[in-house]
Amino acid sequence: MCSVMFLTGLLLFMSCAVVDALDNGLALKPTMGWLHWERFMCNVDCDRDPDNCISERLYMQMADVMVKEGWKEAGYEYVCIDDCWPSHQRDAQGRLQADPKRFPGGIKKLADYIHSKGLKLGIYADIGKYTCAGYPGSLGYYETDALAFADWGVDLLKFDGCNMDRALVGEAYVNMSKALNTTGRSILYSCEWPLYEWPLRQPNYTAIRETCNHWRNFQDVYDSWSSIKSILDWTASHQDIIVPAAGPGGWNDPDMLVIGNFGLSHDQQESQMALWAIMAAPLLMSNDLRDICPRSKDLLQNRRIIDISQDSLGKQGYRTAKMNGYEVWEKPLSQNRLAIAVMNRQEIGGPRQFTIRAAPGWKICYPKCSIKQILPQYKDMGIQAPDSNIVVTINPSGTALLTLTPISSSSFERMHKRVWQDISIKDKHNTVL
Ligand SMILES: *[C@@H]1O[C@H](CO)[C@@H](O)[C@H](O)[C@H]1NC(C)=O
Ligand SMILES: *[C@@H]1O[C@H](CO)[C@@H](O)[C@H](O)[C@H]1NC(C)=O
Ligand SMILES: *[C@@H]1O[C@H](CO)[C@@H](O)[C@H](O)[C@H]1NC(C)=O
Repeated sequence: MCSVMFLTGLLLFMSCAVVDALDNGLALKPTMGWLHWERFMCNVDCDRDPDNCISERLYMQMADVMVKEGWKEAGYEYVCIDDCWPSHQRDAQGRLQADPKRFPGGIKKLADYIHSKGLKLGIYADIGKYTCAGYPGSLGYYETDALAFADWGVDLLKFDGCNMDRALVGEAYVNMSKALNTTGRSILYSCEWPLYEWPLRQPNYTAIRETCNHWRNFQDVYDSWSSIKSILDWTASHQDIIVPAAGPGGWNDPDMLVIGNFGLSHDQQESQMALWAIMAAPLLMSNDLRDICPRSKDLLQNRRIIDISQDSLGKQGYRTAKMNGYEVWEKPLSQNRLAIAVMNRQEIGGPRQFTIRAAPGWKICYPKCSIKQILPQYKDMGIQAPDSNIVVTINPSGTALLTLTPISSSSFERMHKRVWQDISIKDKHNTVL
């Protein structure tokens, strides 16, 4: 069976002025890095499981691999600690302290190590009385904790929302944002404000964008396709509310990339990577970089997908169609380019063919456009006209990812000249050699 989708360029009508972001100069593009939670959770048993417990060794080893194995070069920069790092008691000055057995050097030394690798360190705390896993929370200590993080050289704070009066969640996040600002150190501020406020009322995304660099809206990601689907479904059904809030300096956070773990097939991993790029989501991997399969690594380091995520226009993509077991998502890119993801949501049968055709008058492909397929494999689909049929083949729960670059008649000629020049340079080299 064959499905034809007419692209309408719906997104062109949805552009609206993005409100002011938190003014700390950070997260101008979606944050990239690694965060321990989904893969390592609250494993504190360093006696029996020294390689996988939450300890300074874990972050140092991850940082080493990030530099050695091309992760840093691909753009992954933040090495982030999640819950379960602190001691159960604050110190004599009321400051949080790292568990002395698992972090014998303390956080400052760990930050120095991470910085020596050219990377950045993220830490975790909670707005309430306790963290989600029962460690000391920051309620009543926002200034103290912000100062400690700044002193230690921390670069990112993930501030969770457990064990707190829901009615005070907003002011708590605002207060910590101010406390971080007062330290004078630029610390990327990752919030869970809307996640904890939705059960009470619709959150104010203007205020959230002024306060945080990214914000979790929906429940934690698990290492399963049903979890990825639930996040995508929630995002699409709230896109009119949340998408306008995203832009340079502040992003919707659909939670970690679980690519390279146990629960997703390769097609599903490609879907997560493609859709997280389309959603302009933070790309925070939670996996074991010391032991990851080459296909997952290539996918996570795929420069063409990362370029879509990090595009300078900074617009989050939308779901623009849902039909016949397919979903189409579109993300506007700089220079009037467009990324399109077509996801095959059918979980029975084999690969299906989907045909994309531009609707009449659709400017992006007028008079012509250049189309490249990035997933499931790279393919230059050449120069196409608005009436061309672009056929992509997509496995069950997989995604085809494409970019469209408009070609005006003048730039079309320029491109021909460029190609011609490149060929003549190559010929010259060949002759010389
Ligand atoms: C603190 O906020 C002010 C005003 O919004 C801003 O100009 C400044 O860069 C901020 N400083 C830090 C360290 O975030
Ligand atoms: C936030 O700060 C205001 C002003 O200092 C204070 O009255 C309020 O109690 C604080 N709220 C929280 C949750 O920290
Ligand atoms: C949302 O927050 C903004 C910025 O803080 C504020 O100006 C606006 O009045 C708020 N909107 C509502 C409906 O409370």
